[in-house]
Amino acid sequence: MLTEEEMHRKLRSSQKERRYFHTMGVVKEAVRLAPKFGVEIEKAKIAALLHDCAKNFEQERFFEIAAEYGVTLDEYAQREPALVHAFLGAAVAYRDYGVTDKEILDAIYYHTTARANMTNLEKLVYIADMIEPGRTMPQAEELRRMVEENLDDALIYAIDCSIKHVIKKGRLIHPDSIHARNYLVERRDELRDDK
Ligand SMILES: [Fe+2]
Ligand SMILES: [Fe+2]
Repeated sequence: MLTEEEMHRKLRSSQKERRYFHTMGVVKEAVRLAPKFGVEIEKAKIAALLHDCAKNFEQERFFEIAAEYGVTLDEYAQREPALVHAFLGAAVAYRDYGVTDKEILDAIYYHTTARANMTNLEKLVYIADMIEPGRTMPQAEELRRMVEENLDDALIYAIDCSIKHVIKKGRLIHPDSIHARNYLVERRDELRDDK
């Protein structure tokens, strides 16, 4: 695996300045929240650092590059280029940055769609991506407040925002996002019933 410094250097040379700043914001939030949710700081840092490592590729070449990296894209990713950078990102993190930790690779892979039964590391990267200081929409503010209270409630809200955004744009909703939301809502309701 590359050292942290090498990763920074590689990212800085391949990402546009704006994206690099976004990445640094996600790292900051992920590292800050990691101890609160029992996540290893080192894992949170690397997953956040590399979550958008494939976003700098030109979208027109996404499919070609995915094939080069041996990434199989499902029918949704084939129609929605916005999803590809996450799936491809895990492969790039593995091959170009030398990351072999499955938990970190999964956190990168699922940072856009989410999925049912996520690890806390996956949840953390998903949310940090939406609350980093560069995110100025009102939903980000609400999410910052919510994450201090309850990770899963915050995640439901984050996934709702993301699904609404996809609907507004008239795009396809990846089934993993629906599964993620249903899983969390069911669990939340079960916990309430137990009280
Ligand atoms: Fe992303
Ligand atoms: Fe991001």
